[in-house]
Amino acid sequence: MLEKGGGKARIAVLVSGGGTNLQALIDAEKSGIIRSGEIVLVISNKAGAYALERAAKAGIKAETVLLKEAGTQEAFEERILKLLDENSIDLIVMAGFMSILSGSFTNRYPDRIINIHPSLIPSFCGKGFYGLHVHEAALEYGVKVTGATVHFVNEIPDGGRIIKQKAVEVMDGDTPEVLQKRVMEQAEWIILPEATEEICAEIVRGK
Ligand code: GRF
Repeated sequence: MLEKGGGKARIAVLVSGGGTNLQALIDAEKSGIIRSGEIVLVISNKAGAYALERAAKAGIKAETVLLKEAGTQEAFEERILKLLDENSIDLIVMAGFMSILSGSFTNRYPDRIINIHPSLIPSFCGKGFYGLHVHEAALEYGVKVTGATVHFVNEIPDGGRIIKQKAVEVMDGDTPEVLQKRVMEQAEWIILPEATEEICAEIVRGK
């Protein structure tokens, strides 16, 4: 938790893969876009995720919590909660994190867990809509505009209150990979740092 008299909100970033959104957050802290918070912990549920390399390069403490080592989803979530508690985390940012957290987890941090989803919720979201599948569905449907959404996380996959969205044009001939990259570059990597700063500023004001 924040030390007396302000200070910065302590951010934990949950990752599973390449960590491009983590990198956007790291860069945003360096450039001053994120100034009311500091990333103090990265937690991956996948050993060897490249996101862990990014954390190491940035000198950020990183931990790996594996479901198969924990045994059950409950024990897995307890291990994550323990790390969050030990590091006095104020805000949890899910950035490419591929595990659905239970209501008992999300209820421990009301309005303090956010997620980046690569579509304009409520389109192409919910169970099964993650990573490339989201862009495949958008192209399949034939939408002309897609984008990204930052939302609060509750027990419903992609169901929490929307915080920020940014639209991205779908171009003729787009493949899912090309569209994913455009959505990342033009939307995800912009609105996730912006939303993170806004919420950290609120947390700091509220302390
Ligand atoms: C991205 O499509 C992001 O929208 C989703 O996970 C994917 C990988 O993100 N949440 P990252 O490169 O690991 O940040």
